[in-house]
Amino acid sequence: MSYKEEYRKSIETPEAFWAEKAEAIKWFKTPKTILSKDENGIDRWFADGEMNTAYLALDYHVESGRGDQDALIYDSPVTDTKQRYTYTQLRDAVAKFAGVLKAQGVEKGDRVVIYMPMIAESVIAMLAVARLGAIHSVVFGGFAPHELAVRIDDAEPKVVVTSSCGIEIEKVIAYKPLLDEAIEKSAHKPDSCIIFQRPQVKAEMIAGRDIDWAEAVANAEPADCTPVKATDPLYILYTSGTTGKPKGVVRDNGGHAVALKYSMKAIYNMEPGEVFWAASDVGWVVGHSYIVYGPLLAGCTTVVYEGKPIRTPDAGAFWRVCNEYGVKSLFAAPTAFRAIKKEDPDSELLKAYDLSKLEIVFMAGERLDPPTYHWTKETLGKPVIDHWWQTETGWAICGNLTGIEMLEPKPGSSTVPVSGFNIQILDHEGNELPNGEQGSIAIKLPLPPSCLPTVWGDFERFRTGYLSEFPGYYCSGDGGYKDDDGYIFIMGRTDDVINVAGHRLSTGEMEEIVADHPSVAECAVIGINDPLKGQQPIGLVLLKNGIEVDEKQIEAELVAMVRKEIGAVACFRRAIVVQRLPKTRSGKILRKLLRQIADGHEYNIPSTIDDPASLPEIEEIMGRNGLVS
Ligand code: COA
Ligand code: AMP
Repeated sequence: MSYKEEYRKSIETPEAFWAEKAEAIKWFKTPKTILSKDENGIDRWFADGEMNTAYLALDYHVESGRGDQDALIYDSPVTDTKQRYTYTQLRDAVAKFAGVLKAQGVEKGDRVVIYMPMIAESVIAMLAVARLGAIHSVVFGGFAPHELAVRIDDAEPKVVVTSSCGIEIEKVIAYKPLLDEAIEKSAHKPDSCIIFQRPQVKAEMIAGRDIDWAEAVANAEPADCTPVKATDPLYILYTSGTTGKPKGVVRDNGGHAVALKYSMKAIYNMEPGEVFWAASDVGWVVGHSYIVYGPLLAGCTTVVYEGKPIRTPDAGAFWRVCNEYGVKSLFAAPTAFRAIKKEDPDSELLKAYDLSKLEIVFMAGERLDPPTYHWTKETLGKPVIDHWWQTETGWAICGNLTGIEMLEPKPGSSTVPVSGFNIQILDHEGNELPNGEQGSIAIKLPLPPSCLPTVWGDFERFRTGYLSEFPGYYCSGDGGYKDDDGYIFIMGRTDDVINVAGHRLSTGEMEEIVADHPSVAECAVIGINDPLKGQQPIGLVLLKNGIEVDEKQIEAELVAMVRKEIGAVACFRRAIVVQRLPKTRSGKILRKLLRQIADGHEYNIPSTIDDPASLPEIEEIMGRNGLVS
């Protein structure tokens, strides 16, 4: 089968295409309705099918004779721990923890928030929630209490699961005080919190609310899998939008399982029994799809790595893991490879390892810049595949279907549309643009299985945020172009979302925090190029009249505020005082122009500008502060 043939079928006869792919999973009730509309008029897949995602990820493999194979390898250089779980062991651990949750009253449809580091128990907690037909919402451990509180208020969990600490290289971060602060701030209060105590920190327990994970598991009855409808939610994952309020992306059970199982072979060329490693975090969509669900649905072995590409202990960490476990496909963010390249440009550390089992390196999360592409390809002597996707889709929109027909990669391109994604490049009016011209990347409806059907509790936000701009299309928020061979080039966001070290962040949210400082009259936060992390946020602030302050002092206060509200992961480290901000006559800050200045690009002065003299002035200030590349 050629890529072209596979893709053509998926677009011309989507129902037949996905009905066939759905046969690859074991349904409790096989769907007869493949594609239908829900009460909001949104396309839904397999609406009358019944299944359970945790069953497919674990029990199914035990029943099919895969029980003694490794399902999960936990490798933690920061605690010097290595641990393996076979499919049987992982299923039993998940069933027990599901019993713990059940004893706390968790039932089908209830929400459970999981705020955990990269340990095996995070995966166990996620699958246990899925086993009960409940809905998990994992919050990345690098987020501060405020962010956790916002998510608790939106998801209204019955139970929160956390760990006593996370470990960031040599820093031990106590999670429990962060959870306590979040619950103090949130209006919604969970009934109980389950705490996994790690030896590095012993969490103080609140009597009547907090439960010790190990004690509860010791007394638990294993719980069975609860059948759910294909369209019932499996999880909510919050992601940054353009405002301070994160969007709860809803993922259904059935479409997700079918798409992910398909992707493991079609995109990643993985067979059951092989080892797949996504070096991400369970707090991000890559972690959900390709640390937890994808590899397990496909009967592969997944690696849960609690470490960094560098300094744990050195820039050979990735090669060590690939060598030790015979990883076949490695998936990580370009930032990770830039970090390795910076520390070990001649890849001296690679010489100690045998990477003969590693076949392909996949990258996503941010644009794969051609220098990083070439370095990785030449260093490893393996194909390097960029693929583009979003929390909203849960799997790649563009990529190289290496399990069907590997196309020749083009540096700077995430190759071609993946099966089911009918990608069009549109101008502002929604007209299709010719090849080579840059525009908004939109996906013609219906979206394939696994894509979000709504934003949790806010369908209107889903409609206005994604479906209204171009009727009949999903608007991705990314810009780019298609070349004459149909290859897609993603050039960056068209909104105020930025990507820092492969982490998606909202500059709008940072602006709301900066604007709250008593001395700040107005501000703009923009993402500028960063040689290591792809982008970094910077603040340009205008002080209130008559305020005389030390600019370094203000910068330190603003940096501390963003760190406290969003978390260290925001990487907000620079805030520069300016005399005025370039605006349109209607008062809108010209953020795109500011980004062009910072990136050292040519720019045209828009006719709508109110005060053209503000531009050379701001260019000079940004240049003086080392913010122009
Ligand atoms: N819990 C608590 N804090 C966290 C955290 C977590 N899970 N993850 C990151 N942080 C903190 C870091 O400790 C750091 O804090 P600091 O400002 O006190 O030093 C801050 O957030 C920024 O983290 P990060 O952007 O990861 O920078 P770093 O300098 O610690 O590491 C890299 C640099 C390149 C090694 C790292 O960014 C990396 O591994 N990037 C790849 C990212 C990735 O895989 N993304 C996957 C998305 S698909
Ligand atoms: P997230 O939802 O966190 O996965 O972030 C999604 C965003 O990351 C996309 O909208 C893109 O802006 C960016 N992104 C992800 N993968 C790529 C890629 N391969 N190339 C360019 N940008 C990417």
